[in-house]
Amino acid sequence: MEYVLLNNGVKMPLLGFGTWNLKGKECIDCVLTAIETGYRLIDTAQMYDNEREVGEAVSRSGTPRQQLFLTTKICFPQNSYAGAKTAIARSLEALRTEYIDLLLIHEPYREASDMYAAMFEAYQKGLVRALGVSNFNAAAFAGFCRSCPLIPAVNQVEAHIFFPQLSLQRQLSAEGTHMQAWSPLAAGRQQIFKNPILTGIGHKYGKSAAQVALRFLLQNGISAIPKSSRPQRMAENLDIFDFKLSKDDMASLAGLDTGRSLFGWY
Ligand SMILES: NC(=O)c1ccc[n+]([C@@H]2O[C@H](COP(=O)([O-])OP(=O)(O)OC[C@H]3O[C@@H](n4cnc5c(N)ncnc54)[C@H](OP(=O)(O)O)[C@@H]3O)[C@@H](O)[C@H]2O)c1
Repeated sequence: MEYVLLNNGVKMPLLGFGTWNLKGKECIDCVLTAIETGYRLIDTAQMYDNEREVGEAVSRSGTPRQQLFLTTKICFPQNSYAGAKTAIARSLEALRTEYIDLLLIHEPYREASDMYAAMFEAYQKGLVRALGVSNFNAAAFAGFCRSCPLIPAVNQVEAHIFFPQLSLQRQLSAEGTHMQAWSPLAAGRQQIFKNPILTGIGHKYGKSAAQVALRFLLQNGISAIPKSSRPQRMAENLDIFDFKLSKDDMASLAGLDTGRSLFGWY
């Protein structure tokens, strides 16, 4: 596993395991398999209603807590100072942990600054190791940074081969904020796994379309949290650290950027 150093010195794995839509026993089994496969970052959220299952899998895995990196996100209706305080306590309890590695505001709520004030207090108490936001576009991010007590370490946004948001990545990087991609495989849309440019380039390196799509993000300074419920795909998605796409391949892949969200965001 390779890591990125966040703006406060915390090390975050460059590839994590996404858990959206995983529920109950399937979620526990998948997170356990992901950890066995080598994932060290698990991405959950209060909105996913699976923090308890993630916490259970982490404690059952036997992997020392300090070797794992847990991300969660707080959201409506806890979009207030008091709500965020309650939400943080709830996440800590559900995840069975003494600290959250990365805590994000799930969406750019009007009350984001109030939520962040509660998050900053938790950060100062050592209950959270890094703070960030999610789904903040360029304008929302710039506005937020003007008044926040600590520049967010991460902005987790939609980013994949069809909408890599490279200009947002440059803006974030200039502020010292790391961009992390959600739906890095476009959630399987647009026939991504059969895309001839991805499969053609993959053929040269002995890699799949999924591996090329994830590697493209990494080489643009964007980390990723792909989700799969299948062990073979979990391993495939993690196996992207032993090759490097050439400049020409990166340029061909950049040509797949449509400049539009696939999910109606931003
Ligand atoms: N912050 C936010 O607002 C936000 C929004 C959306 C998502 N997220 C986070 O980002 C994570 C990832 O996004 P996502 O789950 O929407 O989509 P994704 O990771 O882009 O794609 C997941 C889909 O691709 C399939 N898949 C995965 N690896 C594959 C491979 N190697 N070959 C073929 N198919 C493959 C999976 O099916 P199988 O499971 O059957 O393998 C699943 O249908 C989420 O789980 C969540 O943690 C955050």
